[in-house]
This record gives sequence, C-alpha cells and structure tokens, in this order.
Amino acid sequence: MDLIIKTGDLRKSFGNFEALRGISLEVPAGSIYGFVGPNGAGKTTTMRILTTLTRPSAGEAWVAGHSVLEDRRAVRRAIGYMPDEFGVYEDLRVWEYLDFFAACYDIPESQRKPLVADLLELVDLQHRREDLVDKLSRGMKQRLSLARTLAHDPQVLILDEPASGLDPRARVEIRELLGELANMGKTIFFSSHILADVEDVCSHIGIVEAGELIMQGSIDALKLQLMAHREIIITVMDQASADAAARLAGELGTVVSAESITPKNGRARLRVDFAGTDQELGILSQRLFEGGVTLLGFNEEEKDLEHMFMRVTRGLVT
Ligand SMILES: Nc1ncnc2c1ncn2[C@@H]1O[C@H](COP(=O)(O)OP(=O)(O)OP(=O)(O)O)[C@@H](O)[C@H]1O
Ligand SMILES: [Mg+2]
Repeated sequence: MDLIIKTGDLRKSFGNFEALRGISLEVPAGSIYGFVGPNGAGKTTTMRILTTLTRPSAGEAWVAGHSVLEDRRAVRRAIGYMPDEFGVYEDLRVWEYLDFFAACYDIPESQRKPLVADLLELVDLQHRREDLVDKLSRGMKQRLSLARTLAHDPQVLILDEPASGLDPRARVEIRELLGELANMGKTIFFSSHILADVEDVCSHIGIVEAGELIMQGSIDALKLQLMAHREIIITVMDQASADAAARLAGELGTVVSAESITPKNGRARLRVDFAGTDQELGILSQRLFEGGVTLLGFNEEEKDLEHMFMRVTRGLVT
C-alpha cells in the first residue's frame, strides 16, 4: 500500500499539556481519509504539523514522501490546505480571491484567468464571481476555500472541518465535491467531529481522542472488525418464552450472550450478541423454532459506524 501521509509517533506539547500523545497515521494514496474526533482531540494540531505550520515536539511526518521537518517547501507544494477559519477579506471579490492565491503559487497571469474560471465552475460559484467574498454565505465560503486549495493542483488536500457549521444541504454539496476531487486523483485527508457524517464519503477513517489515535483503517475493515458482534433482537410472547429462548440460544457457540431487554406491548424481548455468519444465524432461528419458541420478531439491529464505535469504546466489544 502506497502511503501518501505517514506519521510516526507524533507528539506535541503546549507547556505541560500534551495535545498529541503519539499519533501514527497511515493515509493511503488516493484515499478519502476521515480524521474524526471530539473538540480538542488534536485534529487541527495534527493538520498544522502536516502542513508545516507547527513543528512537532517529537516524532516525524511525511507527506508525499517529503519530511515535514526537513523538506517543508516540497511538502507545501504537494498539499492544499483548508484551515478551519476562513478569515476576513475586505473588498476582495470572489475571482480576485482565487486569482490572488494562484499568484501566490507563481502561476503566470495568462494561466490564471482560465484557472480561476475552472475552479469557480468546479465549486459552482461562477454566478458569484463578482461578489464580495465577505458577503458570501458560509457554505459558499467553504466551497471557495476548497477551490483555493486546488489552485496549484496539489496531490493531497488537507481540509480542517470542511463541513462544519453548514446546513444539511450544504454538507451534502461538500461531500459530493470531495467525491469529485477523489475521482480527479487527489488524496483527501479531512477532519470532522461527526462520525456519521464521514461514513458515507470516506474510504478510510482514523479516530482520535485526547491526542491518541484509537483506531484507524479502511471503513470496510473496521466494519468487519466491529461486525464480529452482531446484535439480534428477538421478540417472543412472554417472559417464559424469553427465558426458554435465552437458554436455547445460549447452547450455540455462535451466541456470545442473550439477555432480556425492556418488554414492549406486553411481549418479551431478547438481545442476542451474535458472532456468526448468516447461515449460522439461520441455525439460531431454527433452533428456537424446534425448541417450541414462537418467534414474533427476529431482527438484526442495523448498526451505523457511530453505534458500533460507541459499543467498542464502552468496552462492550473486545
Ligand atoms: N497554541 C496552543 N497553545 C496551547 N494549547 C493549544 C494550542 N493549540 C491547541 N491547543 C490545545 O491542544 C488541544 C488540541 O487542540 P486542537 O485544536 O488540535 O483540537 P481539535 O481536535 O482540532 O478540536 P476542534 O474540534 O475543537 O477543532 C486542545 O486542548 C487545545 O486547547
Ligand atoms: Mg480543530
């Protein structure tokens, strides 16, 4: 696997406070990597190190093969960075904003005109090209900011909370844009504090909490890992049936635990922690049926990543 961002035991202290306590990231080339964690987890600090804006207290980081400590210029050329704050740009029009940043990357004037037009089209802001930047809505500013990161055609985009503060529709637009950029061959490393929000768009995620990376990998691999414990909810007639069902289920090797849960509409319910395949799940329902338990419901709890993750961090799954 080709890693385009790699960090080794990255640490950062502010005074006595350890903001990063040894982060080792592995971001494959071409991935959309969601870097997820609550406020204060260390996302922005990590990104600022990757973009060479802050130096780590210890550890190393490489972006596109360049060390952030030893080859800062090469790192900066390889990345487009979208900070978490847009900033204030008085009296600057949308096209001027992009033209200005393109000029900062030494793109000649003759190329800037078509480039700015392309970028505005990509983020769907052509109709706003003459507007003052400060007058744009938050969603438009985020898109403009994203366009700016692309001016020098970088390989890697490092985006700090690109969807924060946006309404649901604007969030979807940003998500679609990220997908488009990935299709253009960019690697996207972006942060968010909402796991459910990144699940759809990411190929990989890393979850950071209090300066530590608590899990990382491809979404599929993480789901598989978490899916080792499926949650089956079984509804039966009454408590006696529930007890019988729990006993029968408990005899199967694929059943980790079976416990009664809150009754509903006078019926009894059972939650089964199940670690087997679909075939084995079939065996469970058959066993209950043969044991004389009448099943009123037999459902697998649909679990999104957030739900599964909560179970892992509460120590319910090992
Ligand atoms: N320059 C600084 N001086 C002192 N403490 C800092 C500094 N920068 C960050 N911190 C602290 O480091 C911790 C991590 O901050 P960071 O901004 O990286 O978190 P974050 O995951 O980006 O959070 P958020 O979701 O709120 O953006 C926080 O406790 C923060 O207060
Ligand atoms: Mg932050």
